[in-house]
Parts: sequence; C-alpha cells; structure tokens
Amino acid sequence: MKEYARAARGEGRVIGLVPTMGALHEGHTGLVKRARQECSQVIASVFVNPKQFGPKEDYQKYPRDLEKDADKLAAVGVDALFAPETPDVYPDGFRTYVNVEGISERLEGRSRPGHFRGVATVVLKLFEIVQPHFAYFGRKDAQQVHIISEMARDLNLDSEIVVCPIVRETDGLALSSRNAYLSGEERIAATVLHRALVAAGNELAGGVRDAVQLQNVMRRIIEAEPLAILDYAEIVNADTFEPVVRVARPCYAVLAVFIGKTRLIDNLLIEPAQANSDEFAFQL
Ligand code: PAJ
Repeated sequence: MKEYARAARGEGRVIGLVPTMGALHEGHTGLVKRARQECSQVIASVFVNPKQFGPKEDYQKYPRDLEKDADKLAAVGVDALFAPETPDVYPDGFRTYVNVEGISERLEGRSRPGHFRGVATVVLKLFEIVQPHFAYFGRKDAQQVHIISEMARDLNLDSEIVVCPIVRETDGLALSSRNAYLSGEERIAATVLHRALVAAGNELAGGVRDAVQLQNVMRRIIEAEPLAILDYAEIVNADTFEPVVRVARPCYAVLAVFIGKTRLIDNLLIEPAQANSDEFAFQL
C-alpha cells in the first residue's frame, strides 16, 4: 500500500482515504462518494482494529464480510481497498501508541477506556501508510473525528480531515454496523435515540438554552423505552466535549444508549443559525 500510494502521489493524484472497520452500509459509502467527488485516487481501508475494543466488548463477534464490502466499494468507485491482517498492523513487539489527552477520557472514552488510544493509533498508522491528502470521517462518531482532527493538528500531519453528515434510516436510526445485532423488537426500540435528539432539538428551537433541561428531555424519552438503558445524555462544547451549562456556542447533544446488549451512539449538532446570531439551529 505504501508503494501504491507513493506511486499515485508521484503521478500527481489527489488521494482520499476512507478508513472503516467493514460491514459497510450507506454511512460508509456516503464517505466514499464524497471522496470520489474531491479526489482522483480513492482508497478505502477495512480493518477491525483490536486495539480499540475493550476486553468485554464485541471484537470477536463484530460483523465481517470482506467480499461483500469489496463489492460495495467497487460499486461506488473506490480505486483500491486496503484490508491488512492484524499481525501486519500489529507485529510482535508493537508498543507505540497515540493518546490525545483529556478529550479521550470523556464520554465514549469514559465508557470505553482505551478506545480512543486504539483509534488514534490505527488512524495515524493508516495516515502514515497512505499519506492521503484528504481523509473522510462521519459526524456519527463526533468525538472520534474531533480527536483525530486534534491529533492531525498536534502532530503536524499533512492529511486534511473532512467531516461528513450522519446517514440515517427513514425512521431516523443512524446507520451503524452494530444495528445488525438488533432483534426485530430492539430495532423498533432503537429509534429512541433519534426521538430523544429530535425532542431536544425542538426544545432548543422553542428557546430552551439550559443544558440540564435539554438533557432531561432526552433522559425522559430514553427512560420511557423499556428496552433502552441510558449510558449518557449530555450537552457538550463542540470544541472540547466538556459539558456546558447553557447553549451559547456550537455544541453537541450526545447520546449513548444500550438497546438490549447493543450499545448505540448518536448526536445532534447545535450551531448558531447565522454567524454571531443568538438563534440556534440543529442538525440531525
Ligand atoms: P466504522 O465504525 O466502520 O466507521 C467508519 C467511518 O464511517 C467513521 O468515520 C464513521 O463515523 C462513519 N460512519 C459510520 N456510520 C455512519 C453514518 N450513519 N453516517 C455517516 N458516517 C458514518 O469508526 C470506525 O469504523 C473506526 O473507529 C475507524 C475510524 C475506522 C478506526 O478503526
């Protein structure tokens, strides 16, 4: 892959990288389509990264179907698929990790210790191997893409991070490889994340700025769903992921909810409607 990417760069091509863990859906292919519009060489990676799973998490049973993924990627015009084996990525004696301090310990990082260290490490490796001009990530994992952007800035990386919108099912559920774990009943219950975010957005549109009030709206909706157990529901500063008291600048409403044994995340982006305006608009 290093030789392939170096040759493409040598020919003056603009390289776009789309890192994934496979089990691809339209959230992933949306990233590829965006890369296709902006880059002359689009490379996708599929690697289920063991370093970002906790010991009690779903690394073993994470859905894997490389052939199907390859077909989907070919259909949206990917030039190359990079699907390394684990020992190639982490050979014996591997002991170097990237830790983006502070932000990696909050929210997802608090519920999943070591998760973002694994993410940042593998993404830096992918960036070093491919050296893409642009790398595409989904806002679905808002904290992840923020951490990767901070890493890119702190380590003077040459790759520009592009954030793409959340792709949802028609009933609002954000597409996720983990949705495959849901039973029929759980799949219906899983719309509770979207419902809670919409309710918070509507409160905001009605003038509510108090973070506790917005959180409580989300919490009540999650608690009313028998199959759902709330992990966290918070309003956080979009730059630091620290909790805010009031919405007065760009924020995220962030949610993590267990539906049965499946842990799902989602978020709502809250931004001033116009530059310097007191009005806020939200984006699902
Ligand atoms: P994975 O969960 O496979 O997601 C790969 C990319 O697809 C991420 O940038 C994620 O935000 C994006 N994505 C997933 N669902 C989406 C949706 N519904 N709408 C828009 N984008 C969506 O995230 C990872 O893999 C890994 O942590 C990785 C970055 C590859 C490092 O191992």
